[in-house]
Amino acid sequence: MVILSLKMRINPFGLNKLNKASFISAFFVSIVAVIVQFLILNFVYELPFSSYFLLLILEFFGFWIFVYIFLSFILEQFLISRVKELYASIIPTTSYQSMISQSSDFDLITSNLKKINSEKNIEIELLKKEQDYRREFIGNIAHELKTPIFMIEGYILTLLDGVNDKKTVKKYLKQTVKGIDRLNFVIKDLDLITQFESGMTKLNLTSFNILETIENVFELLEMQAKENKIVLKMDKPYKTPIVVKADEERIHQVLTNLIVNSLKYGIEQGVTEVSIEILVENKILVRIADNGDGIDEEHLPRLFERFYRIDKTRNRSQGGSGLGLAIVKHIIEAHQEKIFVESEAKVGSEFSFSLTLDQNSSL
Ligand SMILES: Nc1ncnc2c1ncn2[C@@H]1O[C@H](COP(=O)(O)OP(=O)(O)OP(=O)(O)O)[C@@H](O)[C@H]1O
Ligand SMILES: [Mg+2]
Repeated sequence: MVILSLKMRINPFGLNKLNKASFISAFFVSIVAVIVQFLILNFVYELPFSSYFLLLILEFFGFWIFVYIFLSFILEQFLISRVKELYASIIPTTSYQSMISQSSDFDLITSNLKKINSEKNIEIELLKKEQDYRREFIGNIAHELKTPIFMIEGYILTLLDGVNDKKTVKKYLKQTVKGIDRLNFVIKDLDLITQFESGMTKLNLTSFNILETIENVFELLEMQAKENKIVLKMDKPYKTPIVVKADEERIHQVLTNLIVNSLKYGIEQGVTEVSIEILVENKILVRIADNGDGIDEEHLPRLFERFYRIDKTRNRSQGGSGLGLAIVKHIIEAHQEKIFVESEAKVGSEFSFSLTLDQNSSL
């Protein structure tokens, strides 16, 4: 109410800026017209003022109204049609265009223009960021592919130059195969990430016992764990099956990537322990904890970015390309689940992710 009465006092007729300008201009034009008429009647025709006083007053108001209507009509037609043309060229097909065409209110048009401007600025910023991201991504791919290609090229050129010793030939050929394997890994991972990012991956949701999947991954990585002198174990014996609803193959991959990391970045005589706990009513949390190198806090926010590695020289010897955790995150998020990481340098790391229990699971 206070605001309304204040507005009425400042702008009694509720006029917009364009109308106000016409209103004031019409007032001054009418005054000038009436003064000119007064001067003519008084000095040229020498008529007594009282004989035309009322006429002048009526003429003043009549003139004011007429000039006001005329001016606002002309200004609106002329200015707004120009402004609309201008907007149409800036924003060919957006909702604003219809808003503008419906309105001849300059205040509204100005606020719309400001809104469009800030939206365009945000769009430009996003496009710039995407461009940087793409450039960095392509650079990373080139780097990842270059290393094994140079390696393969080096061995093949040496072999072509002629190596007589059979043992050396075999060794070089083995290294070449290793390089090709590496290329295959990177390309497979990149393909998977691209599929996830373009939303092309469809999950094959089934009900399965997560304990069996963990067991399978343990068996698969048994040799690598022995080589790295790390023990793989569950935190306790789980007697009843824990049936979850998810894509088994993908969850197998998540567990493999996380456990392989715990082996790669673990310490000799270390332990990788997997545990399962109930998170809420129908959700469980699968934890993979190790007592390895650990990760400094500053790296944690960027850990799941593709190609992100902490110590590039150390990891190079482990052969990682920094895609493993990015894939893990994509898989978990495609399941509408969450992944967490807690880690402390020189103490160890714990990666955990949620999964949804099958409705009939008795956990
Ligand atoms: N359990 C862990 N302990 C210590 N550091 C880890 C652990 N897991 C991941 N990291 C760090 O996070 C980085 C990213 O891991 P990620 O699995 O994405 O890549 P990668 O292992 O280097 O390569 P890839 O998995 O593609 O073969 C690793 O380079 C490593 O430095
Ligand atoms: Mg990895």
